[in-house]
Amino acid sequence: MKISVIGTGYVGIVSAVCFAELGHEVICVDVDRPKIDKIKAGIPPIYEEGLTELLNKHAGKNLSATTDYNFAVKNSEVSFICVGTPSDQHGKIDLSIIKSASASLGDSLRTKQEYHIVVVKSTVVPETTEKVVLPIIEEHSKKHLGNFGIAMNPEFLREGKAVHDFMHPDKIVVGSMDKKSGDVVASLYNGIDCEVTRTNPRTAEMIKYVNNAYLATKISFSNEIGNICKILGINTYEVMKAVGRDFRIGPHFLNSGAGFGGSCFPKDVKALIEKAKEIGYEPVLLRSVISVNEMQPERMVQLLKSRLGNIKGRKIAVLGLAFKNDTDDIRESRSIPVIKELLDNGAMVSAYDPMANENMSKIFGNIQYNENAADALNGSDACMIMTEWEEFRSLDKEFNQMKNKLIIDGRHMLTPKKDLEYVGLCW
Ligand code: UDX
Repeated sequence: MKISVIGTGYVGIVSAVCFAELGHEVICVDVDRPKIDKIKAGIPPIYEEGLTELLNKHAGKNLSATTDYNFAVKNSEVSFICVGTPSDQHGKIDLSIIKSASASLGDSLRTKQEYHIVVVKSTVVPETTEKVVLPIIEEHSKKHLGNFGIAMNPEFLREGKAVHDFMHPDKIVVGSMDKKSGDVVASLYNGIDCEVTRTNPRTAEMIKYVNNAYLATKISFSNEIGNICKILGINTYEVMKAVGRDFRIGPHFLNSGAGFGGSCFPKDVKALIEKAKEIGYEPVLLRSVISVNEMQPERMVQLLKSRLGNIKGRKIAVLGLAFKNDTDDIRESRSIPVIKELLDNGAMVSAYDPMANENMSKIFGNIQYNENAADALNGSDACMIMTEWEEFRSLDKEFNQMKNKLIIDGRHMLTPKKDLEYVGLCW
């Protein structure tokens, strides 16, 4: 089929190349001209495993790019809205980009005779597709639902594994208001071995939030248990490994430590909290998920202080700046509150991340960035491990460079050694 993808951020570009790989004709649309030029030249706007290969394979063939909405709508049968949905300062979802994309789509639909389906793929709180996107499209197109179709089709892509997750999903959810639109959207995934869950738009929207909120809850639950286990002298990893053997619980997302970061979990849990409040429900559990997550970095610095006393003027090595391993993304990384707290206490921070030094230097311009872990550790009074980078597991003689061999591990990376003072956050 002919598909246009509105917004070439992380979700848009991954969806576009994967739909092209499934044999569809895809047009990428973005207001950012340099981005569009890059895509045309086969250069992905972001790094994702496997993305460059797929873009090179399809760019200029069954994948094109434009800044022209009218051209894209005219030359496609289905448009996916994949623009960003950031949070405002209270954590509430900011729908301004969704609204302007819907208005532009509506304007383009006005002069189109043929049936066209608009699909919301961006993560939006329940009711957005029906109560925000649909009325805007109707107003701008001067058409009514039925003359065009509307659907909601959330994504569940992990950063770093997004192309793999698109092609090998464990669920595909299609929420539509009419059967015809839902059938078309579901058929776009033909060739992927996965059952399609068919529902209405608001349920599809909710499924996405519940998915992320539940995973975040598993992590905060594990962190709370870890905090209790530490006081009791119990190894929480041993506990959770056994607990995770229960098929009703499962072994994943039970790793306690510094907490969750990234562009989705914190933002989506907060947006769901705000939506619940808006409809008159106080989401006690979801609030606690965020509270526990915000407590973990504070606990790390408290542990450090409990060993070093006053940290003013002390050199603290921070290993890991990205929100998780294998990415340079620092959004909501747990290392941010830790570094802030260290600086507020007058400590000197010596940081290292295999990929994220540059991004973090835009937030903290006044700390020392190093090319490797050994340099970061050199002469330090303590080390804090913030990200689960594989290379940190094999650190050994690098710790000899430290002035004081104290390690606060926020990610359960190291095996304790005799000549190191090794302190786990929850173990
Ligand atoms: C997540 C969801 O997994 C994905 O389905 C959704 O579409 C977007 O959000 P992502 O943000 O890429 O994906 O990160 P993920 O790999 O899930 O990890 C999120 C955070 O949780 C990381 O900071 C990680 O360190 C932390 N985490 C994960 C834990 O602290 N403990 C765990 O057991 C697992």
